[in-house]
Amino acid sequence: MGKVLPGTGRPIRRGCQRCRRAGQRAKTTQQCSAMILVAGGTGTLGTKVVSLLLARGDGVRVLTRDALRADDLRGRGADAIVGDIRDSATIEAAVSGCTTVISALHGFIGGRGAGPAAIDRDGNRSLIRAAVAGNVDHAILMSAHGAAPDSPMSLHRMKYAAEQTLVGSGLDWTIIRSVPFLDTWIGVIGAHIADQGRALVPGRGDNPINFVSVNEVATVIDRSVHDRAFRGRIVDVTGPDNLTFTALARQLIEASGKPGQIAHIPLTALRVMSVLARPVAPAFARKAHAAVVMNTTDMTVNDRASALPPTSNSSPRQP
Ligand SMILES: NC(=O)c1ccc[n+]([C@@H]2O[C@H](COP(=O)([O-])OP(=O)(O)OC[C@H]3O[C@@H](n4cnc5c(N)ncnc54)[C@H](OP(=O)(O)O)[C@@H]3O)[C@@H](O)[C@H]2O)c1
Repeated sequence: MGKVLPGTGRPIRRGCQRCRRAGQRAKTTQQCSAMILVAGGTGTLGTKVVSLLLARGDGVRVLTRDALRADDLRGRGADAIVGDIRDSATIEAAVSGCTTVISALHGFIGGRGAGPAAIDRDGNRSLIRAAVAGNVDHAILMSAHGAAPDSPMSLHRMKYAAEQTLVGSGLDWTIIRSVPFLDTWIGVIGAHIADQGRALVPGRGDNPINFVSVNEVATVIDRSVHDRAFRGRIVDVTGPDNLTFTALARQLIEASGKPGQIAHIPLTALRVMSVLARPVAPAFARKAHAAVVMNTTDMTVNDRASALPPTSNSSPRQP
């Protein structure tokens, strides 16, 4: 885990805001029956978060567009709402009765009208508005390391815009900025090692990048739900090592136990694709652009001093 930036100084209020807003005597959040919405609960990260919360006995609801996955989640004891973050009726139903809302979704690989502007900025803003209207107590936003208004990546600019909305919403909030997930990149680089003996590296792959395990990020979200010390904070989640794409590819080939080769997509081709593909295949263009950024900018983290918020006295809330 990396450094924790201070919050805005908004005072942490004791007791459950949801009860207070509903005109009831404010209970502690632990006394409230908790229903936690995980928007993006079917993703790489969201799946782990849902498992952690269910294992604690928390009430969990997942928002997904996939009816089959919704059925599967119901079979595991979660509630599920089938719909799209861009649909206001869906969001209203999803947050209804929830004490906590977690946004773990993104539109990075979405097509036209479903990219970072539509999902990470506008979708999250709608979710935050619905959470305010629905008397939600606490919202946790999954953002990204480097989120900033002038980031070279649209995803990071849109994450920053959503962060701003959340901080100004009046909700209790936690923002989690993570470096790239190792698990995601193992999937990308190692996708064809088993069947083709070939690891695919975008660009030269010699730029060191800080990766973190998705399990570690899920643990931070789980703690953010249950520990009030995480409220009003931007938590930077970083990994132990800086690793190049090529070094990762070598390790994956070695771990496969079979001979394999590394194929590189030339940086020039990525640059060209990131521009030419934009009008016809925006998600493809976005991926190519991200690969250029990850090959050419400083992606390292070297001051990973442990600085999670000190654990507060709040115990896990019971459903
Ligand atoms: N992967 C990384 O390296 C990385 C690094 C830093 C931060 N993050 C952030 O961490 C979070 C989780 O990332 P991930 O890699 O685990 O995601 P992922 O595996 O790609 O899953 C994406 C999730 O977003 C949901 N989603 C996408 N569009 C949606 C829409 N229009 N309406 C409703 N749901 C939608 C998907 O749900 P359905 O398909 O089931 O509808 C799915 O659950 C995201 O906020 C991401 O930006 C990721």
